[in-house]
Amino acid sequence: MGLILKADEANIKRAAMAINIGGLVAFPTETVYGLGANAYNKYAVASIFEAKGRPTFNPLISHIAEIDMMSKLAQPDERALFLARKFWPGPLTFVLPRKDNNSSLDLVCAGLSTITVRCPRHPVALELIRKSGVPIAAPSANRSQTLSPTTAAAVLLSMEGNVDMILDGGPCEVGVESTIIDLTTPSAVILRAGGVTKEELEEALGEKVLISDGNPNKPTSPGQLLKHYAPKKKFRINVVKPSDDEFFIGFGAEYPEAHLNLSFSGDLKEAAAHLFDYMRRADEEPDFDKIAMAPIPEYGLGLAINDRIKRAAR
Ligand code: TXA
Ligand code: MG
Repeated sequence: MGLILKADEANIKRAAMAINIGGLVAFPTETVYGLGANAYNKYAVASIFEAKGRPTFNPLISHIAEIDMMSKLAQPDERALFLARKFWPGPLTFVLPRKDNNSSLDLVCAGLSTITVRCPRHPVALELIRKSGVPIAAPSANRSQTLSPTTAAAVLLSMEGNVDMILDGGPCEVGVESTIIDLTTPSAVILRAGGVTKEELEEALGEKVLISDGNPNKPTSPGQLLKHYAPKKKFRINVVKPSDDEFFIGFGAEYPEAHLNLSFSGDLKEAAAHLFDYMRRADEEPDFDKIAMAPIPEYGLGLAINDRIKRAAR
């Protein structure tokens, strides 16, 4: 059996089973193909980052099949509910406040207190989400630094060896990614232009919508920086011998005294899955006012982990 499977009912069911046991499934949406995993399974989400070969952790979009699912993950305001009723299913993604700090969603949210959700219009995507019974976290199904794929063949070229299954639903109708709109601020801000236009959004909301230049590191107006998670406490990295007043997060078997260990066996995927959860737990720990973390090797997912902890330790 090849990796590419026609998206018929039996294969969508297989794909849903793969999602439920922590696998990675590429699937069509109306915009581009997504690389999906169970959003609640942090190990599966870690494999998305591994498969993408992204040297950093970006928050991922959680794909849902019903407007009602939005309130399980996020705290949608009237604006979000209104836009969802008008544009969903469709190429519009919301950044919203997270519902609670469910730690299984920490990696999907890259440790942030926001969550990004969208209800795609493609029948195969909707059926896959419904059959899986969970929100599906998915970035575009391409290796980092390559084009977003709009056919199953393009996914195969980019992801072969890194995906359990590719559901072929034919070429994507829209071909560009969804519009991302930040609804955590009083004025809505478009973070990425896409399938739904600024004019359509302004007309629907009856007010001005701000627009960022699409580069989260070079905002055109304040408040548009892609925020990075950082603990409130003083945080040291590459620490082999922590001091007594530091809450110590280890990595590997050589730190039996660590308060938490990202992975005793030195598995980077396991470490990625725990990273944001453990940083937050360390931050909340009342008996220590400092945090230290053991060195993380600089390869594979270690690149993304080091990128994040370097930013957090500044
Ligand atoms: O059309 C699409 O949106 C496709 C299909 C598969 O749904 N998905 C997609 O995902 O393009 P991805 O991960 O390739 O792009 C999502 C972008 C990333 O650049 C990420 O940094 C940004 O959205 N993003 C996600 N959550 C964010 C947040 N809370 N704040 C700011 N930017 C966010
Ligand atoms: Mg992408």
